[in-house]
Amino acid sequence: MAREPLAQILGAWGFYGRSFRVTRDTLVPRPDTETLVDLALARPFERLIDLGTGTGAIAVTLLAERGGATGVASDLSAAALAVAGENAAAHGVAGRVRLVEADWWGGVEGVFDLVVSNPPYVTEAEYATLAPDVTDWEPRGALTPGGDGLSAYRAILDGLAPRLAPGGRCLVEIGAGQGEAVAALFTAAGLDAVAVHPDINGKPRVVEGWMPKRNGAG
Ligand SMILES: C[S@@+](CC[C@H](N)C(=O)[O-])C[C@H]1O[C@@H](n2cnc3c(N)ncnc32)[C@H](O)[C@@H]1O
Repeated sequence: MAREPLAQILGAWGFYGRSFRVTRDTLVPRPDTETLVDLALARPFERLIDLGTGTGAIAVTLLAERGGATGVASDLSAAALAVAGENAAAHGVAGRVRLVEADWWGGVEGVFDLVVSNPPYVTEAEYATLAPDVTDWEPRGALTPGGDGLSAYRAILDGLAPRLAPGGRCLVEIGAGQGEAVAALFTAAGLDAVAVHPDINGKPRVVEGWMPKRNGAG
């Protein structure tokens, strides 16, 4: 009756076949985000970073699916990171993931061959139209960066060059109508083979780009 999401009442929600602990400090993992996971798993990777990890749904799933890979899961929210840590332990990957409290790349060290993120992307105007089931219960900072909804992509791409290895891949989830703008940001950041991928409903959902190899061999 209070419009509390079922995931928060249960304290857990399914994502990519696993159960993830969910609290009021975390976004409830959405099935839309499984598209990004499928795309990430379609190619090899060894060192990944998940920027804005929330429950850890993306990082924990990728590490659980790809034994031997290691990674960083970062978030601005210390409370969300604590939940991500519980989920990493529950799925047996705690020894392969480092949890880092960071404002996007600030304080993050290392070089990665896979950078993934499902950042807040709802525009300020759209946020005002969302159902109270979402806005009364899920963290505002997980849903919208304010303004045109693109500032998180700008921050991630601005700091990408020293952190994404030559030949490495970047995958980000996008919202409705953002494909063209985010693909343009990827191209402006110097990424190659930029592509917008649909989700299972045929809606543009993930933007992909590759860091050129240093020798220019593609
Ligand atoms: C849309 S949620 C995604 C959560 C999770 N990755 C998923 O797909 O279910 C965005 C996440 O980004 C985090 N975030 C927001 N602003 C951030 C910032 N400036 N730096 C790092 N993380 C941030 C939020 O705390 C939230 O956990």
